Amino acid sequence: MIVFDKVTKRFGDDTFALHDVSFEVDPGEFVFLTGPSGSGKTTVMRLLTREYTPSEGEITFGETPLHELKSNQVFQHRRQIGVIFQDYKLLSDSNVWENIALPLYIIGKSQAEIESRVTDLLKLVNLVDKAYLFPSQLSGGEAQRVSIARALATGPRVIFADEPTGNLDPETSLSIAKLLHKINQLGTTVLLATHDTGVLDSLKSERRLHLDKGKLVKDSHAGKKPKRKPVPVKVDPEQPDTPDESDAKKDPTDDHQPTEVHVENLDGAK
Ligand SMILES: Nc1ncnc2c1ncn2[C@@H]1O[C@H](COP(=O)(O)OP(=O)(O)OP(=O)(O)O)[C@@H](O)[C@H]1O
Ligand SMILES: [Mg+2]
Repeated sequence: MIVFDKVTKRFGDDTFALHDVSFEVDPGEFVFLTGPSGSGKTTVMRLLTREYTPSEGEITFGETPLHELKSNQVFQHRRQIGVIFQDYKLLSDSNVWENIALPLYIIGKSQAEIESRVTDLLKLVNLVDKAYLFPSQLSGGEAQRVSIARALATGPRVIFADEPTGNLDPETSLSIAKLLHKINQLGTTVLLATHDTGVLDSLKSERRLHLDKGKLVKDSHAGKKPKRKPVPVKVDPEQPDTPDESDAKKDPTDDHQPTEVHVENLDGAK
């Protein structure tokens, strides 16, 4: 679903933010992006959202090579990626409800759809009772849960969380990691950039891509799993034994549904 193929990102002549980085992420995966400060984690996110373009190499999202996106398609592309930041980036003069609803207003959803979706998202992140508070009235963990709900509002295929626990205490950090993991289990692909050892230790079995000085130096799951969903092959004695063309062309991620948020409040998602 996400393919980085020999991607280099250079600033000026000799600053390499990323150097010859290749990896693939399948739909539904949970992937940690680790590495010291300056190793290139945020650059991966900015390349994925087409805020940056690679100096060399190619990035594909779904079936779309990002260099083929026209400028008027970038907005549509970005809707498929929910981004979560260390500093939450909430609108300070809008309340919790309005912050979560904003992306839905922007894409023109009806008032009834917005009310139903925001109500479900508030339940998911366990903030129903804080819906009418403003960001300055929230704890860090609560503010981050609002930003997670906002990122999920339009039903993105991928969540990219960039150091989401950087401003939080260890216990709150674990609850945010647990919430993101739950969202992944509900069907959204999650990339989590972090050097929070508590968070990493709490989800030991999940895949880690480790960057160092712009190079991908470790993929914990390298060679462990098939890279792509197999294309269905028709077995029909009347027909030649070849893949159905329409299936072969189909984006395997097309089946994506917005994260189903009709769930009970998450235990411990404080
Ligand atoms: N717009 C830019 N102009 C110049 N250099 C940049 C730019 N963006 C990133 N870089 C450089 O690329 C390198 C990687 O930066 P990046 O922000 O991706 O690191 P990071 O792994 O996210 O670090 P941190 O953990 O501190 O957030 C750094 O050396 C940074 O200075
Ligand atoms: Mg960063």
